[in-house]
Amino acid sequence: MSLNLRSLHPALGVAIEGVDLRSELDAATLSQIQRTFYENGVVLFRGQSLTESDHVRFARRIGELEIHFLKQYLHPQHPELLILSNVIENGKPIGAMDAGQYWHTDLSYAAAPCFASILRSVKAPVENGVVLGDTLFASMFAAYDALPATMQKRLAGLKAAHRYGDRFKKTVANGAVRAPLTKDQREVPDAVHPVIRTHPVTGRKCIYVNEGFTDHIVGLPADESRSLLDELFAHATRPGFIYRHKWQEGDLLMWDNVSTQHNAIGDYGNRPRIMQKATVAGSVPF
Ligand code: SIN
Repeated sequence: MSLNLRSLHPALGVAIEGVDLRSELDAATLSQIQRTFYENGVVLFRGQSLTESDHVRFARRIGELEIHFLKQYLHPQHPELLILSNVIENGKPIGAMDAGQYWHTDLSYAAAPCFASILRSVKAPVENGVVLGDTLFASMFAAYDALPATMQKRLAGLKAAHRYGDRFKKTVANGAVRAPLTKDQREVPDAVHPVIRTHPVTGRKCIYVNEGFTDHIVGLPADESRSLLDELFAHATRPGFIYRHKWQEGDLLMWDNVSTQHNAIGDYGNRPRIMQKATVAGSVPF
């Protein structure tokens, strides 16, 4: 199969054209997709007509799938898919509402955070012909490379604690209708990871702290930890490192949670938006 690669942004992101993800991908095509993904952090497949089963089957070719711990929002027939949506049916949200509307990497609060997230746009919110609900992606390879050498040296060896519970409280405080967490979900323990992470495939270094889930840098006084984290959050999300994705229904977009952060823009009010996400397992950061 001959693939066409089109860059989405100088810092990250490639659209792969000429492939129908419903078909059985041969080994050479899969390997080209994977290589493009590891090197570019975000890969977009536009105009796909996938069913939930097609989505899951493709995601399994990328790696072992995880079942998300927010079980109340899993697709009833395909538990490998987490539903993200503002649609309310019978008084209940059909998916996690307002999910990811802050800079984060998925599941960084887990001991072995997921590697890839593979998101499909099922319903895009539209106002006056304009699609809303863009998602921003920032390259943590580019952000690391742009740090002054003195800062790279200062960060080497530092570790940070990542936490889920506080983020849930903030999302609800901001107005999202969310089912209460179960005891297990409330008690997700903190995870401690290197502030600078090495990509397990490419070996490149990237910044691995994010505003959404990183609570503090281990071993630093609270004020020093706060100001260093704030400086890193601001640096990591500088405009030059960001690709802004405008969704179309039928997009399947996958991102690498080691080398990118993302932020979903919640500008669509109650215009319906439905996304489905498969999550590929990852490894313990080093
Ligand atoms: C997320 O996975 O964090 C949300 C992405 C999106 O809904 O655009």
